[in-house]
Amino acid sequence: MRDILTAPFVVEIIRTVTNMYNHGWDERNGGNVSLLLEEAEVKEYLNTEKVLRSLSTGFSAPELEGKYFLVTGTGKYFKNVQYAPDANLGIVRLTDGGKTAELLWGFTDGGRFTSEFPAHIMSHAARLKIDPGNRVVMHCHPTNLLAMTYIHSLDEREFTRTLWQMCTECIVVFPDGVNVLPWMLCGTNEIGEATAEKMKTARLVVWAQHGIYGAGKDLDETFGLIETAEKAAEIYVKIAGLPWENTITDEQMHQLEKHFGVRAREGYLS
Ligand code: 13P
Ligand code: ZN
Repeated sequence: MRDILTAPFVVEIIRTVTNMYNHGWDERNGGNVSLLLEEAEVKEYLNTEKVLRSLSTGFSAPELEGKYFLVTGTGKYFKNVQYAPDANLGIVRLTDGGKTAELLWGFTDGGRFTSEFPAHIMSHAARLKIDPGNRVVMHCHPTNLLAMTYIHSLDEREFTRTLWQMCTECIVVFPDGVNVLPWMLCGTNEIGEATAEKMKTARLVVWAQHGIYGAGKDLDETFGLIETAEKAAEIYVKIAGLPWENTITDEQMHQLEKHFGVRAREGYLS
């Protein structure tokens, strides 16, 4: 059996959460990440017959029965993951229709998966129906996106259009736009269900006055998706309240659609 600390998925998630912390998106225990793993890749490093603990999830997800996830722990600080991956991360397999998560590795100090596990698993289920290649769900608290939810309308079309107008590449990176949830209590099945519903039409879901969820095919791509939206929000926050002399017009956005072969969300451009 190979050393799990050398597994590309462990190395990559450590790099990613460290980078997220360094961007200031994950103060204290803020943020959580989950990565869907193939059984075959897990078996290279772990005896999948050996269940360390069985944890109740508090929800069901029958479509993800038997699936393996590498996930960050609740209350864990992203800045510490690189120094103690086996305490801050865990690998679980969903059983019992998703009601139970069997711990196969990690959470060595008796911990458990993120309190936002409902939002992660339900979002995985929603995105997999649209894109079978989706493997990552990522949540964090990027400063400028959060700030924007205090001063900008939460109307999804308006929110998306403002972000698209802030940098030329936004419409290319997230043509499906950004969906927005009003403030809700976090760590609940309700916010998980609401997030998953929003994930049906976009890979980015803002939680007003809290943070953002992103979904994608790998850690790099999902990080990049949030990074691009956060960059746009940073520009918005810098110019908020100032008169705009210029913008990116809808006509220019149509040129970008054509040139990069993307389709903007229906009805979002005039
Ligand atoms: P966890 O520590 O449970 O992952 O929660 C962090 C967070 O960002 C809650 O939304
Ligand atoms: Zn959060």
